[in-house]
Amino acid sequence: MLKARIAVLVSGGGTNLQALIDSQNRGELKSGEIVLVISNVKGAYALERAKNAGIENMFISKKRLGGTQEAFEAELLRVLREHDIDLIILAGFMSILTGEFTKLYPDRIINVHPALIPSFCGKGYYGLHVHEAALSYGVKVTGATVHFVNEVPDGGRIIYQKAVEVQDGDTPEILQRRVMEQAEWILLPRAAEKVSSDIIKAQEG
Ligand code: GAR
Repeated sequence: MLKARIAVLVSGGGTNLQALIDSQNRGELKSGEIVLVISNVKGAYALERAKNAGIENMFISKKRLGGTQEAFEAELLRVLREHDIDLIILAGFMSILTGEFTKLYPDRIINVHPALIPSFCGKGYYGLHVHEAALSYGVKVTGATVHFVNEVPDGGRIIYQKAVEVQDGDTPEILQRRVMEQAEWILLPRAAEKVSSDIIKAQEG
C-alpha cells in the first residue's frame, strides 16, 4: 500500500515522536511512514528514540551553516527533498519556520501545541512556558491543539483540539505531563493518520 513519507522535526525529549512511533507500531498510523527524524538541537533525546526504532535520524546545525535561518531552511529543504518527504510533523520543534519555507509545503506541515489555540500561543509560547502562562492566568481548562503550519506562528487551520482540566496545586511540570497524556499523545498520531490518508487519497486521484 502507498504511504505518505513522513519527516518528524524535534528539539527535545521526543515524547510526541514516541507517541507517533508507538502508533505506527500498533498499526494505527497506517497511511504514513516515519522515514526521517531531524533535530535542530545536538544530542536531543528524541534522536535516541528514532535510533532505537530504526528510523534514520540527523542533527542539522544552524551554527555550522553560518547561523542564519535562511541557511538552516535551505539545508532542511535539501534533506526533505532528498528523502521525498510528503508530510512534515513538528513534534516539540522549538524553532519558528519562515513563510518562505512553509509556503513550499501548504497543508503538508502539522504542529502540536500544548494549549487551546488561540490561547497561550504564538511567539514566545513554547514548551513549559505555555503551561506557566496558563497557570499564572488562572485558567481552569487548557489542552492541546494540532494544526497546519503556515506563516503565522500557531496560526494555521486547526485539525484537532482536546481540553484538559487544570487542577489545584498544579505546577507547570505536572500540568505539562497531564496535557501530554490526555491530549497531545492521542491527538498527534490521530492527526498524522488523517493527514497522511488525505495525502494518499489526493495522490491516487
Ligand atoms: C510538547 O508539549 C509540545 O507540545 C511542545 O513542546 C513539548 C515537547 O515535548 N511544543 C511546543 O511548545 C511548540 N510550540 P516532547 O519533545 O516530549 O514531544
